Amino acid sequence: MLDVPKLFSPFKLGAMDLNHRVVHAPTTRLRADDDLSPSGMMVDYYSQRASAGGLMITESTHPSYDSRGYEGAPGIYTDAHVAGWSKIVAAVHDRGGRIVMQLGHDGRQSHSDLSNGAAPIAPSVVPFEGQALTKDGWVPVSPHRAIDIEEIPALIESFRAAAARARSAGFDGVELHNANGYLADTFLQDGTNRRTDAYGGGIESRVRFSLELVEALISVWGEGRVGVRVSPSGKWGAISDTDPERTFGYFAERLNGYPLAYLHVIEPRVMGVETIEEGKAPVASSFLRQVYKGPIIAAGGFDRDGAESILEHGDADLIAFGRFFTSNPDLPERFRRNLPLTPYVRDAFWGGTERHYSDFPAFDGQAAAA
Ligand SMILES: Cc1cc2nc3c(=O)[nH]c(=O)nc-3n(C[C@H](O)[C@H](O)[C@H](O)COP(=O)(O)O)c2cc1C
Repeated sequence: MLDVPKLFSPFKLGAMDLNHRVVHAPTTRLRADDDLSPSGMMVDYYSQRASAGGLMITESTHPSYDSRGYEGAPGIYTDAHVAGWSKIVAAVHDRGGRIVMQLGHDGRQSHSDLSNGAAPIAPSVVPFEGQALTKDGWVPVSPHRAIDIEEIPALIESFRAAAARARSAGFDGVELHNANGYLADTFLQDGTNRRTDAYGGGIESRVRFSLELVEALISVWGEGRVGVRVSPSGKWGAISDTDPERTFGYFAERLNGYPLAYLHVIEPRVMGVETIEEGKAPVASSFLRQVYKGPIIAAGGFDRDGAESILEHGDADLIAFGRFFTSNPDLPERFRRNLPLTPYVRDAFWGGTERHYSDFPAFDGQAAAA
């Protein structure tokens, strides 16, 4: 290891001053209250993972009731949601951390039981096999429908309103979930977008939906407080594109035209929540680094050394960690002191109680208990 790890050098991310480069990746854990407000155990979870001058990104949070694909995922469209999230923000800020809310619409990765019987929506009908989590447990997704062009302004408006609510909850910014085969990603990539109107066809039209969302978020947040997450060549959600370099290169190029805080890039060696190409070097961040002019957060399959290496190489500015953060609330500190990590518990990822969620001790607490 190098003497002064880059991981622990400060960075100015848009309007946010950070003390280190270890970012909490968005991690859906499906433990919201029945009204989809953040629960008390969620306040504990985020608070435990906050660190002075560190950035946290929330789990995907929904701008409307019917935009979710998993029971227990939180929302940000009622006053109760805002009140619940403000507690999380206050807890993170009390510990000197920064927190941005990821806003996502799950699109075709959903089930009609999650939206009062309405079919999930997508840019086009392209059947696929996937799963949604309803009150009855994991079930195959239900058939989706292609949305009418007239419905798009209301969708964009739901994101704008959600961004405004996130702002009133005290967040430091918002991140557009444009990754992992959810709604915005299905517009971007040609395997799922077969539209022939202004939102489909060539990449110049397929980016329209995402860019309208970005503009809506910036209209609320202004400069340096909006991020965008992408997963070039990612396979989660049965997503595909015939020319990912052109699609994502063009998208990143267009994003240069906006005062974003960052571009957040998931490496394709990870499919959603699983490493599918063990030992493969990061490729997506280095590719987008050539195109995108602002800060890049890289994610997907990083450990301490892998993170330090990509930072040293200059292909990313910060590194987001998903799975390791679930079981190591003090992950930045463990990396700083090169301490061993507690293994994560996959069975507890989605839904459940405090068990294997907010009951993982920090390293020092663990040592004290032993
Ligand atoms: C339990 C779990 C839930 C996740 N939920 C989200 C999510 O809500 N939004 C998102 O963009 N990515 C989500 N991810 C993906 C992570 O942000 C991250 O990209 C992935 O875990 C790979 O990083 P890692 O190798 O550090 O775990 C989730 C991952 C896990 C393990």
